[in-house]
Amino acid sequence: MSGALCETHHPDGRFRVVATKPLPGTRWLELLGDADCRVEVCGGQRPLTREEIVAAVGARCDGVLAQLTERWDAELLEGLATAGGRVLANYAVGYDNVDVARATALGVAVGNTPGILTETTAELAVALTFAAARRVVEGQRLLGEGRFTGWLPSLLLGKRLWRKTLGVVGAGRIGAAYARMLVEGHKMDLVYLDLQASEELEAFVAAYGAFLESRGEAPVSCRRAATLDELLESADVVSLHLALDDSTRHLIDAARLARMKDEAILVNSARGPLVDEDALVAHCRRHPSFSAALDVFEREPELAPGLLDLPNVVAVPHLGSATGWTRRGMATLAAANVVGVLSGWPVWSGDVGPFLGSDPPRAAPSIVNAAALCLPALAAAQRPRDEAVSSDA
Ligand code: GLV
Ligand code: GLV
Repeated sequence: MSGALCETHHPDGRFRVVATKPLPGTRWLELLGDADCRVEVCGGQRPLTREEIVAAVGARCDGVLAQLTERWDAELLEGLATAGGRVLANYAVGYDNVDVARATALGVAVGNTPGILTETTAELAVALTFAAARRVVEGQRLLGEGRFTGWLPSLLLGKRLWRKTLGVVGAGRIGAAYARMLVEGHKMDLVYLDLQASEELEAFVAAYGAFLESRGEAPVSCRRAATLDELLESADVVSLHLALDDSTRHLIDAARLARMKDEAILVNSARGPLVDEDALVAHCRRHPSFSAALDVFEREPELAPGLLDLPNVVAVPHLGSATGWTRRGMATLAAANVVGVLSGWPVWSGDVGPFLGSDPPRAAPSIVNAAALCLPALAAAQRPRDEAVSSDA
C-alpha cells in the first residue's frame, strides 16, 4: 500500500475502523478509542486510489471515515459490506461522492457532518463575493508584478454591493447563513430559490426590515423566486448552495449564464459540477464585466483550461469548511457517527453542539440514510439540554 502508510491507534480495540486520511485534532481518536475501536489512519498528501482504499478496508473493517475526494460507488461499498462494515462516515456535509442507495441496500449507514461548517462555509462565500466585487486578487497581482504606480481615479474599479440584490440558489443551512450575512451586513435585498419556502429566512428578513424602518432607514426585502431564470435576471450576485445530484448537474450552463446581468457575480462554494465550467470560461471571456468566484470545480482538482488566466475569475481550492475549529469539529462528528452506529445508539437530529462538549450524547449525530435503514431516532425527551457550541479557536 505504497503512499498510503497507516498509523494505528488503540491497537487492541474490538472494532476495526479505517480513516482514509489523518484528521485535525485528537478528540475524534479519543472518542473512537473509548468506544473500543482500533483505528488505522492512512497517510499521504493526495487522495487514496481505489486500490489503496480496497487494501485499507481489507478483509475485516467495521467502519470507515471517508473523504469527499473518494468515490464510494457500488463496488467499494460492497467491499466494505463484505468486510463487515456497517458505517461510512463522510468527512463533509455533502455526500454526492457516496452511492447512498447502494449503501442502504447493503445495510451500511452513511454519516455526514452538518451544522458545524454552516457559518464557516458561508463566510468563505462572503469572502469570495467581495474578492470578486472589489477585484482583490487582481489588485494583489498588480502589486506583485510591480505595476502599482500610485493611486489613480480609475484603477481597478469594482462593484458596490450595498443595497443591491442578492440571489441565493438553495436556501438550506449554508445558503440561509450566507444570505443573512449579506442582508444584515450589507442591506442587500434577497431573492432566493428553493423547493420549499424558507419561513425562517423570510421571517428574519421581514423582522430586520422592520427594524431598519423603525430607525428611519429603508427596509430590505425577501422574495422566493418562482423560477431560476427569474432569479438570474434580477440578481446582482448569484450564489449557489445546492447539493449535487442528477437534477442539479450543470444547473448553470451557457443559456443560464446568458440570462444573468452583464455585471453580475456568480459564486459557487457548493459543488463544481453545478456549473458547466467550460461554458463559464467562455462567458467570462466574452463578458469582461461579469465575475465568477469559485471554491469548487467541475473536475477537481483539474481546472477548465483558461479559467485561471481570466482576470474576472477568483478561485480558491475547495476551502469552504477550512478553519481549524470547524475541521476539528467535523472530525469529532465523523467519529461520533462511527461510534454511534457501532454502539447501536439512536440517531440525533438538529443542533450538533452537544457533541462538541466533554459529555457527548449517546447517539450518532447525523446519518443520512437513517430513516431508510429504520435506525431509531433519539426521542426529544431523552435529549440533554443543548449546550452552546464552544467558541471558535
Ligand atoms: C465540503 O465540501 C463539504 O461538503 O463538507
Ligand atoms: C481615498 O483613499 C480617499 O481618501 O478618498
